[in-house]
Amino acid sequence: MIKVSNLKKTYAGHVPVHALKGVSFEVPQGQFVSIMGPSGSGKSTLLHQLALLDTPTSGEILLDGNDISRLSDWQKAEFRLNHLGYVFQEYALIPELNALENAFLPLLLLGLRRKDYLKITGDLMARVGLGERLQHLISQLSGGEQQRVAIARALVNKSKILFADEPCANLDTENKGIVLRLMRKLCDELGQTILMVTHEPEQREYSDRVIWLRDGLIYREESISADTRAGAIKDSYRTDISVVEE
Ligand SMILES: Nc1ncnc2c1ncn2[C@@H]1O[C@H](COP(=O)(O)OP(=O)(O)OP(=O)(O)O)[C@@H](O)[C@H]1O
Ligand SMILES: [Mg+2]
Repeated sequence: MIKVSNLKKTYAGHVPVHALKGVSFEVPQGQFVSIMGPSGSGKSTLLHQLALLDTPTSGEILLDGNDISRLSDWQKAEFRLNHLGYVFQEYALIPELNALENAFLPLLLLGLRRKDYLKITGDLMARVGLGERLQHLISQLSGGEQQRVAIARALVNKSKILFADEPCANLDTENKGIVLRLMRKLCDELGQTILMVTHEPEQREYSDRVIWLRDGLIYREESISADTRAGAIKDSYRTDISVVEE
């Protein structure tokens, strides 16, 4: 459960930028939320505050009842490692490591035993469809596969919340479909809470709800019907090259 109250973020500087001007909303556990809005509207800024990658100017963020503004920097790092997952547009994987090693990194940092982190990561890699790609170096993977490694890495700590900032921006249509369907599946099967920033309107149809930002404020909320979601998933298969239509 995420609860955000009157969240503001001003970037100091010669000309201060009021990137978030008082944003409030709640997300129940297991909901898949899209965040949309024009460039510069504060989408990434919002995600950074929620994922503890930055410190808000004012306002309150509760993650599962924890008031994260009260945490020290060290406690924030620990909270992030234990409870949150973040997926970047550019994947942010380590090229010298193979797919499996990239995905289990957070569990190494958490000090799990080798047997345990290999089991957890192996299971998750199979779930994201990469069970046959464990030993591949990052350069030997397609963009969509790389992003799925990044998603596995974000979830190995059993994070309750997955943040994703334009996770499909670098992908072709087929891989966009694969990654979006995967996120939908994680939400439906694991009860994963997902906050995804996107600027492609059709991508929001995979989510449950849309928060529209403009100029640092929420100006609209939209809920996506089950029919719309089912239609988006069905349509996405039409772009798969593996599906040959007569
Ligand atoms: N580190 C920073 N320092 C100063 N200003 C910043 C910083 N990061 C973002 N901004 C400004 O804050 C505003 C919101 O930026 P943000 O990156 O959140 O937008 P966005 O909605 O994610 O846009 P895009 O769709 O282009 O990614 C913009 O005016 C941006 O220039
Ligand atoms: Mg952005």
